[in-house]
Amino acid sequence: MKMKLMLAGLLTSVTLVGAGAQAAELSIVSGDTGSGLAFLRSQLDRFEADTGHTVTVVPMPSSTTDQFGQYRLWLAAGNSDIDVYQTDVIWAPQLADQFLDLSEAAADVAGSHFPSIIESQTVDGKLVALPAFTDAPALYYRTDLLEKHGKSVPSTWTELEATAMEIMEAERAEGNSEIWGFVFQGNAYEGLTCDALEWVKSNGGGQIVEPDGTISINNEQAAAAIDRAAGWVGTIAPEGVLAYMEEESRGVWQLGNAVFMRNWPYAYALGNGDDSAVKGKFDVAPLPAGDGENARSAATLGGWNVAVSKYSPDPEAAIELAKFLASEEVQKERAIQQSNLPTIPSLYEDADVLEASPFMENWKAIFEQAVPRPSAPTKTDYNEVSSLFWSAVHDTLAGNGSAAENLEILEADLQDLKGDAW
Ligand code: GLC
Repeated sequence: MKMKLMLAGLLTSVTLVGAGAQAAELSIVSGDTGSGLAFLRSQLDRFEADTGHTVTVVPMPSSTTDQFGQYRLWLAAGNSDIDVYQTDVIWAPQLADQFLDLSEAAADVAGSHFPSIIESQTVDGKLVALPAFTDAPALYYRTDLLEKHGKSVPSTWTELEATAMEIMEAERAEGNSEIWGFVFQGNAYEGLTCDALEWVKSNGGGQIVEPDGTISINNEQAAAAIDRAAGWVGTIAPEGVLAYMEEESRGVWQLGNAVFMRNWPYAYALGNGDDSAVKGKFDVAPLPAGDGENARSAATLGGWNVAVSKYSPDPEAAIELAKFLASEEVQKERAIQQSNLPTIPSLYEDADVLEASPFMENWKAIFEQAVPRPSAPTKTDYNEVSSLFWSAVHDTLAGNGSAAENLEILEADLQDLKGDAW
């Protein structure tokens, strides 16, 4: 039974649920895109019905970089309006001081997630967030166009360039004037750090800053990989790719205007939606490998988690919500409806999940080999490191200097930033 108490003069209304447990009014931020916001709301509706708490969603810009900037300000100011934050996998070391330690509250469930993800969210023994889903990108390709033009799925960037160009030119000659060969995330933000890390790592060029803190980015294989990507802009990719984030790439792709796309798994379910021009006409493969020594397919590790603000006036209810959003039940729904990768290994063998998202069978291995961005070794400087990196890459893509020139400057800037800090 619910009962409302008005506390004299305080304008505070408190709802009591069941055996005296107090119902809370919670807020959660969401930069979800596509059908993500509606999915979140549907899960929150269930949580509200089960617990008697209410949850307000505070919508945020989709760019993780913009979200990070805002959250950092709010948290630094001790903002008590937001109880639960959805956090990018790279943020843990930078925001750890502002979130509650969930290790005790989640002791019963932490062991059901991939240990590497729990580790990525643990800072000096404190579990700062619970995993909601993990992310490892794919090369999306048009099965109909590859078949029509007698091409196979590229396994190297060189093959991708050739196939993208050939199909694009042949299609345009037939009057398909809007078609492009390849779209990706070329805007100057965190997403470009993810794409460019893949180009560099797949070409044997290291991972910007190595796990031991060594700044490795200024090398020939890294420069060659970034110069190669610069050659895509205005040839197989539109000039506009320099302003694309995930959603702009998906927009072009989903209208049927790209042969290939680099994107995260969320675009799989949306691409097969009833309003999609590419429904049933595409599949996904691992990203292409580079050339030369140590070349391999490389996927940047992404993913989102749920953290509880230490300024929340209702920490118990907020922790309950975080646990709910990380639960197996919600992760399964997410995998089916949103094609987001679960962080619970058994869900990769779940028949319902595999029926909705058959690619997930192969994505467990891709996730397990995914390359982390250097957020652990660079600690609280990660955002600055990433911003210096994506700027150097964006300059190169835009034709402002060669990769070799820009990486030399980047190395010096990273050394200054590092000092004795990491
Ligand atoms: C995805 C990833 C996240 C990454 C972001 C970059 O949301 O899950 O980790 O930082 O893309 O745009």
